[in-house]
Amino acid sequence: GLVNSRELFRQAVSGGYAIPAYNFNNLEQLQAIITACAETSSPVILQVSKGARSYANETMLRFMAMGAVRMAREMGSEIPIVLHLDHGDSFETCKSCIESGFSSVMIDGSHLPYEENVALTRKVVEYAHQYDVTVEGELGVLAGIEDDVVAEHSTYTQPEEVEDFVSKTGVDSLAISIGTSHGAFKFKVKEGEEPPPLRFDILAECEKRIPGFPIVLHGASSVVQEYVELINKYGGKMEGAVGVSEDQLRRAAASAVCKINIDSDGRLAVTAKIREYLANDPGEFDPRKYLGAARKELIKLIKHKNEAVLGSAGRA
Ligand code: G3H
Ligand code: 13P
Ligand code: NA
Ligand code: ZN
Repeated sequence: GLVNSRELFRQAVSGGYAIPAYNFNNLEQLQAIITACAETSSPVILQVSKGARSYANETMLRFMAMGAVRMAREMGSEIPIVLHLDHGDSFETCKSCIESGFSSVMIDGSHLPYEENVALTRKVVEYAHQYDVTVEGELGVLAGIEDDVVAEHSTYTQPEEVEDFVSKTGVDSLAISIGTSHGAFKFKVKEGEEPPPLRFDILAECEKRIPGFPIVLHGASSVVQEYVELINKYGGKMEGAVGVSEDQLRRAAASAVCKINIDSDGRLAVTAKIREYLANDPGEFDPRKYLGAARKELIKLIKHKNEAVLGSAGRA
């Protein structure tokens, strides 16, 4: 069945790699994640947002995740699979996920005043740990949109707070803000310029205060330019889309960052391949054809992440 993230994080921190957390909302994404992770022998976190729960129906998603575990086993793979709530916004949402069989939840109180974040996170931890469900908390606010929480500019995590937060709440992992943001437009960059580097100095300060404690990186898509170019070539409009370089992610994965969240890159791969397919074959109307092309590309993308960026391949 599903496992929580505790042992996976312990091994990832000591091994200097990161567990991939891929968001899913539909069948093809889930098939691709399982296929790619089974074929690369990578542990995986299947991640469901509040938006995913309302899009696909929460009961459907939960049974899909259970089906995904069976699918992996039938492929002959014993990879550990976590079902995780992404950006839980309240105690009730977390409780509902725990009751329905999630093995891990995030409570995102990062937009709250510090003491309120502590109190809410602690409440979720006390409930979750009764069921051996692991909990991710967050300190610092990412730029862009965190589900319903909108932040104009990122507020970096204050390293002075992390030790107190971790000990008061009892969380199993901590998401921090070091310059990433959600979505496909992470930085405003002028033509020919590189995006600014992540704040590895803040990460190092955090690690110093909570040595070996599992740290999570949100907003970690690379915004693969090949996909952006395909999208723009075939009628899309995504000029200026830019993400976190693979070098920066490799460096993060080698640190105490042990969970790297990826959603946007998958969305880009799917959109690029569907646009390309339909542009080249305008008469096609069987969704299996263009969704099949998208799924194939997703498998390729996820294998690449596991093997060449996060280092999770072969760790299962
Ligand atoms: O953090 C946001 C994730 O990419 C999930 O996005 O809320 O649109 O499902 P969503
Ligand atoms: P991206 O938008 O960079 O893929 O980030 C996803 C994420 O952090 C989900 O929680
Ligand atoms: Na790591
Ligand atoms: Zn996130």
